[in-house]
Amino acid sequence: MTGLLCYCRAGFEPELAAELSARAAEAGFFGHARTERGSGFVVFACDQPEALSRALPWRGLVFARQKLQLLAELRGLDPKDRIAPIVAALHADSAGQGPSPEQVRGRLYGELLVEHPDSDAGKPLSGLARAFGNALRPVLRKAGLLAAQDNASLPRLHVCFAAGDHAFVASGDVADSAPWPLGIPRLRLLPDAPSRSALKLEEALLTLLDDGERTRFLREGMRAADLGAAPGGWTWVLVRHGLHVSSIDNGPLRQHVLDTGLVEHLRADGFHWQPPRPLDWMVCDMVEQPRRVAERMATWLREGWCRQTIFNLKLPMKKRWDETRLCLDLLAAQAQRPLVVRARQLYHDREEITVFAAAKP
Ligand SMILES: C[S@@+](CC[C@H](N)C(=O)[O-])C[C@H]1O[C@@H](n2cnc3c(N)ncnc32)[C@H](O)[C@@H]1O
Repeated sequence: MTGLLCYCRAGFEPELAAELSARAAEAGFFGHARTERGSGFVVFACDQPEALSRALPWRGLVFARQKLQLLAELRGLDPKDRIAPIVAALHADSAGQGPSPEQVRGRLYGELLVEHPDSDAGKPLSGLARAFGNALRPVLRKAGLLAAQDNASLPRLHVCFAAGDHAFVASGDVADSAPWPLGIPRLRLLPDAPSRSALKLEEALLTLLDDGERTRFLREGMRAADLGAAPGGWTWVLVRHGLHVSSIDNGPLRQHVLDTGLVEHLRADGFHWQPPRPLDWMVCDMVEQPRRVAERMATWLREGWCRQTIFNLKLPMKKRWDETRLCLDLLAAQAQRPLVVRARQLYHDREEITVFAAAKP
């Protein structure tokens, strides 16, 4: 079987399957999504995986933590020798199994990641994944399939164990996939962070902006508003970049955030407050109906009250892909100007997604 293998937050497989199906159909590809609720991954079977992968860039997907090209699915693996079938699949030497010779001929991988889905069934496989990686790596090097040293300019080889006897073999394009194992950036909550939410904004800045944008968009002395700021996690992240922040919330902010001297706390309604002059940033973590948030964000962008924004959309219990689409369409329509929009369900997001939007220069 060929196609795409994508990882997601466990429980969001229907949303990822709906997203892949919709986007593939829009790009003119036939295929079908196969998944199980709670599994943490979706396979999108398609007979033109390379072209489909190009048409669906990872950065454009909302619910995919990772996007890989599936080379082989191996079931019934013998615990005494799981290595031989993987090497065979990579050599495409078993009749009709594994990838086409075109897919593997001359393919040298720069790194091996042995993974498991981030799910209840997948997490107990982490020990197996680690030990198996250590055993497989030297064999692949000897077979000329893996570079002698990790090489970030070559495709990554992923082996993902869905069970002890069931693995996917897939390749990751380094320019078009998440660089982190399991597609999860590891961030540490610093002891003085006012809330765990701080990790959400840090992850958003890491995954929704590229290196150049982070340098250009986050400079000392810039000005920001934080709508729904209490107890101050997002404000604290911005302050650590040297930004001056107007923090809007009726609730209290942590004292050490106020003590930075860079924060003005305003007890106001985030849906009505507007800045006295244009700002560089507006961030918003208000828990509200997603359409209402998307409309307010569109107003900010339309009126030019901020250059760029990062905000959360809390998703409803049902039809979450439909609601995502609707909110992003609403944002684009009501902003009444060309936008750059990137949306993603972050690792630190639960029933929500995080959106970066900016007026196109
Ligand atoms: C999830 S918390 C924000 C956490 C914050 N981002 C952090 O990192 O600490 C949501 C906040 O939105 C505030 N909020 C909800 N509706 C609001 C509104 N209409 N105006 C201002 N704040 C609002 C709540 O008081 C609450 O403190």
